[in-house]
Parts: sequence; C-alpha cells; structure tokens
Amino acid sequence: MANVVIIGAQWGDEGKGKVVDLYSEFADVVVRFGGGANAGHTLVVGGNKVITHLIPSGVLRGRGKRCVLGDGMVIDPQTLLEELTDLRGRGLLADDRDLVIGERAHVILPFHKEIDRLREEGKGAIGTTRRGIGPAYEAKMARRGVRIRDLFSESRLRERISHQLEDCLPRLQQLGGQLPDVDRITQQYLALGASLAPFVQDATRLLHDEIKRGQHVLFEGAQGTLLDIDHGTYPFVTSSTTLAGGACASCGIGPTAINSVIGIAKAYATRVGGGPFPTELVGDAGDALRQAGAEFGATTGRPRRCGWLDVAALRLAVRWNGLSGLALTKLDVLRGLKKLKICVGYRVSGTPGSGGSDYRDELPCDSDDLAHATPIYEELDGWDADLTGVREVEDLPPPAKRYVRRIETLLGIDCCLISVGAGRAETVMLRNPFR
Ligand code: IMP
Repeated sequence: MANVVIIGAQWGDEGKGKVVDLYSEFADVVVRFGGGANAGHTLVVGGNKVITHLIPSGVLRGRGKRCVLGDGMVIDPQTLLEELTDLRGRGLLADDRDLVIGERAHVILPFHKEIDRLREEGKGAIGTTRRGIGPAYEAKMARRGVRIRDLFSESRLRERISHQLEDCLPRLQQLGGQLPDVDRITQQYLALGASLAPFVQDATRLLHDEIKRGQHVLFEGAQGTLLDIDHGTYPFVTSSTTLAGGACASCGIGPTAINSVIGIAKAYATRVGGGPFPTELVGDAGDALRQAGAEFGATTGRPRRCGWLDVAALRLAVRWNGLSGLALTKLDVLRGLKKLKICVGYRVSGTPGSGGSDYRDELPCDSDDLAHATPIYEELDGWDADLTGVREVEDLPPPAKRYVRRIETLLGIDCCLISVGAGRAETVMLRNPFR
C-alpha cells in the first residue's frame, strides 16, 4: 500500500499533468484535492493533447482507475459536464463508477464568476483566472456556500442560493454587476445536479475504504506551493490550500495515511498573473524561454512570465510540503543557453535576517521584504544537445547532469523523475514512490 501526494513546488504550471499521468499507472485511485477549474493540466498521449481542468489527470489511464474530486474543491458543474463529455468522446470514463464527486465539495455559481471578473476589471486586480474561485471559497468560509449535495433538493438549493445572495448582492451592485435571477439559477443548477447525481457520494468514506483494503491512492494537487492561501506570496495567491497537507484536510484522510510527498518543479520558473517574481527574465531572454517552453496558460491562454530557477523559493516547498522527492520537468527546454543561472538566496536590505545578516536562504514571501530583495545567483554552463531521447541520468550531457545534481545538493533532496519532453516516454524515471 502506498499513498502519495503530488504537488506543484512553484507558482503552478510545473507540468503536474504529465507527472500525475505517469504515476497514475501505479495508482488505483487518483484524487484532486483543491481548487477548481482554475487549473489546467495538459497531457500529451499518443501525440494527442488533452487538457483537464477539474477531473484528475489520472483519467487517461483508462478503465478501473477511480478519479475522485475531493470535498475541498470548488466545482463548476457546467465545466465538469463539458469535460466529462469530452473525455467520454475519447472513450474515457465510460463506466460511471470511475468518477466520484465528493458530496461536500462547493459549487461555483454564475455570480461568483461575475464578481471575479468585475473585480479583475477594477483596481486591485491580481490576475485571477476569472473562474469564480475566490468568491466561491469566500462563500464557503462565510458558511453560506452551496455544496454539491444541495443540488438535489429544490427547496434547499433555493434557500442556500438566496442566503448566499444576501452577502453577494451588495458586492455585485457595488461592482455594477447584473442582478442574479434566483429562480433561473435554481432551475439551471437543479438540472446540472441531476446530470452529476450518478457520480456523487461520500468521498471520504470511499477513500477510507480503498486505503483500508490496500489500494494505492495518488492525491493530485493543483496550482503551486507559492500560490497557497496561507503561505504563498499573499495577496497574489489562489484561495485554497495548495500544500500537501491540504490533501488530508480536503479528503478527510488522516496524515498518517500518506507515505510520500513528491514536489514537481520546472527546471526554470514561470508565473501567470500578477505578483512578485524576483528571478523573472524580461525582454528577449524571457520571450525566448516562453517560446521554447510553450509557456502559455492551459486555462486562460495567457503568456506565462518566465525566469531562472529559484532554489531559494523551492526550499520553502521542501519545508512546507515535507517533500520526499522532486520531479524536475522541462529540462529539455533549457537547451541552447550558454549559461544558466540558479537563484540560491536573497539579500534583503533594510530588514536584517537572523543574526543581523541580510542574507536569506529562502524566498521572502512578504511584499515589503520582496521590494528590498535581490536574488543571489550561481552560474552554471548550459548545453546544446537535444535531451528528448535521454532515458538515463548517465546519458545526460555533463552540464545538464551538473545542473540537476546542483539542484539536488542545494535542496537536500533527490530527483525521482526528470522530464525531457511532453510525451510519456520522454522521461528519466529514477524512483517510483509507489514501489
Ligand atoms: P484564481 O485561482 O483564479 O483566483 O487566481 C489567483 C492566482 O492564482 C492568479 O495569479 C492565477 O494566475 C493563479 N493561478 C490559479 N490557478 C493557477 C494554475 O493552475 N496555474 C498557475 N497559476 C494559477
């Protein structure tokens, strides 16, 4: 029995889709544990590109792999049904039992998306995906949310929507939004609920039973460590817990059930949306990396900001998630650069660190500290060779191997996987957390 949590170690878009798909081969159940349709996991199988937003990436492994949407998620039923239809058109999830939706997950309503969009058009925008994530989690925390199981009773649904609107209406009006039609939304969501009903159940009980009978469970994170609501670069974060610990809280599983935590990090850094990104490359260097890595958002199509690998930021991911291994992705993209830089720490002037020194070995996440922070770089040689055919570490060109080893040394953890291309085969597998 092995239960493994896989999370993004940076600002999201680390290539979780491919890594989760690979490890799903060894899992019986794959669970998404946070966020909603703000995620976009891109998978390339047999030359075909598939993007999932809500359904765990494990879905591509076919029949008998259960895909679970955990209770900590915020689910847009319309998007979920569209995704399901698309996947079924590809011959996946043909058996209703292969998809499980946690009955306590919260529901994204039309006015959540409206509030998100209107806020993003005004002052204080942070560059959200406009999928209504923030407003849905706000309603949940205010104990006025609509949960999946509320979709099955007309009177209850109407009551929950009306109760929530008491809070949202003044906000909507202030933002110049449309007045929601409670009757119309109730009828629309009742119909959506009816379509989702065959998949809804107590996911916590299902997971408990599966773990008890020795099944392998993979918990798939969304977004990334530095977008975590509590510990990320607040307020430029998402509204959920993106850290490994969130898997337990979201799914109603005790931490003792988890055997291993894998962090996924791109061999460089990217960020989409606003917020601090000290190792960002602007101008031609950033453009070149964006083109080489096809760094455009899977959900919004927005160009991603690109920059050097930040090991000082990754140290936070190691610490906050208790990482037992690192999956390093997109190493092939760095081909052709004469020199590579790795940020190994920061100088933060004016706000001395411990012992009176202004040196920090971890990214300072607070915006005031960041405003005075300068990255400290180490420079390494680049390589010209195409890495996509490499399957063993020994076959990496020496500078690429040195780059990987240096990251491991600086972080104090080993790579368990190195991805050298988008396809499943383009991978160096070093250790399997399920074995
Ligand atoms: P929200 O999650 O849509 O509220 O967006 C909040 C912040 O998180 C924005 O900067 C988004 O760009 C970012 N974000 C949300 N989901 C993802 C993701 O899956 N990948 C990368 N960034 C994301």
